[in-house]
Amino acid sequence: MFFAVVKVLTVRTVIMDSLFTQNVSDEAEDIPQTDEPVWILGRKYNALKELDVIRRDIRSKLWFTYRKGFIPIGGCSSTFTSDKGWGCMLRCGQMVLAQALITLHLGKDWQWMPETKNSTYLKILSRFEDKRAAAFSIHQIALMGASEGKEVGQWFGPNTIAQVLKKLVVYDEWSSITIHVALDNTLIINDILRQCKVEGGMTAEIDGETPLKAPSQWKPLLLLIPLRLGLSEINPIYINGLKTSFKFTQSMGVIGGKPNLALYFIGCVGDEVIYLDPHTTQKSGSIEEKMNEEEIEMDTTYHCKSASRIPITGMDPSVALCFFCATEKEFKSLCKSMQEELILPEKQPLFELCRERLTQWSPADVASEAIAAASFVDFEHVERQYDTSDEDFELLG
Ligand SMILES: *[C@@H]1O[C@H](CO)[C@@H](O)[C@H](O)[C@H]1NC(C)=O
Ligand SMILES: *[C@@H]1O[C@H](CO)[C@@H](O)[C@H](O)[C@H]1NC(C)=O
Repeated sequence: MFFAVVKVLTVRTVIMDSLFTQNVSDEAEDIPQTDEPVWILGRKYNALKELDVIRRDIRSKLWFTYRKGFIPIGGCSSTFTSDKGWGCMLRCGQMVLAQALITLHLGKDWQWMPETKNSTYLKILSRFEDKRAAAFSIHQIALMGASEGKEVGQWFGPNTIAQVLKKLVVYDEWSSITIHVALDNTLIINDILRQCKVEGGMTAEIDGETPLKAPSQWKPLLLLIPLRLGLSEINPIYINGLKTSFKFTQSMGVIGGKPNLALYFIGCVGDEVIYLDPHTTQKSGSIEEKMNEEEIEMDTTYHCKSASRIPITGMDPSVALCFFCATEKEFKSLCKSMQEELILPEKQPLFELCRERLTQWSPADVASEAIAAASFVDFEHVERQYDTSDEDFELLG
């Protein structure tokens, strides 16, 4: 511990005394030297004792940034050979989805190394390459944006990227992930159960005439909860809940940003959030089997050497909380944690959790049901207007 303190002081002195260097800023700015716990996607670390472990964990996440020099999005007549200036929210969406795929196929403890050639890892990464044929490429996401009223090159907000990813995951049969986007600040448990439980078809064993149904199977769930936590800045009432959400083992972080730029928040420490920043423009290229120097080098451009952080109060109030539940058990445990840690202790929780959409209404009382239904429609209408959140994110030069 003492060593760490001395090191920080030395670093500070170097900054003051001499020229700014990249190495020094990496050391001083990614993770603060504090005894407060550092949380990275549901994992708790000690910054004083585990700095290297924290950095290795962060470096293992797939980091997607602006790229240039790819095949034009939307055909040869298009000029979109780079997403610089408009693609940052799309890249954040890629990061969340990639993290879910890594958790599903490689496990939460999996770590990337520069020499990693694991074929499952390469298969995941290939889905995000900058080409039309890749299931989750910038091309696919930008073109699918049209179904949400976004032309190629237009900004997405957290809700738009959530809706687009939901449509795209259907095409990845290998992962068979399903995305649930919770609307109106409400998580309806039975809606999610219905979406995730798929009948497993018939089993081979036939008992008399009635075929036995296989136990229903669970589609791995990526749960996205778009929220607006204030008008122009985060309402302080939500800060504690936001921090708590990073502590759940199912956490896939938060898609959001600073005003006018999208960031992928992967954790928190004290009153600050830690993020991966897509605002670096790198050259596009492919990795294939990662055999030659060029491909090995390209792979390293998908891993960020050091994360950044900002105070929670500096976040844009439009966010989408992200969670991944590979099994039904994980989902149930997530609901329990949400109820106990995010909802019950808060005067004004981040969102509501209910079992069924209609439970608040009395089916016997037709009149009150009609009123409830009417107000539900109104409520939905109001919430939709929140989607102007997209306009808060503008083009970045
Ligand atoms: C930065 O770090 C690298 C490797 O750790 C080292 O070789 C290089 O000299 C450092 N640069 C500066 C300016 O300190
Ligand atoms: C890739 O990594 C996973 C998780 O560590 C492991 O189970 C799998 O066997 C590896 N695949 C190959 C081809 O090495």
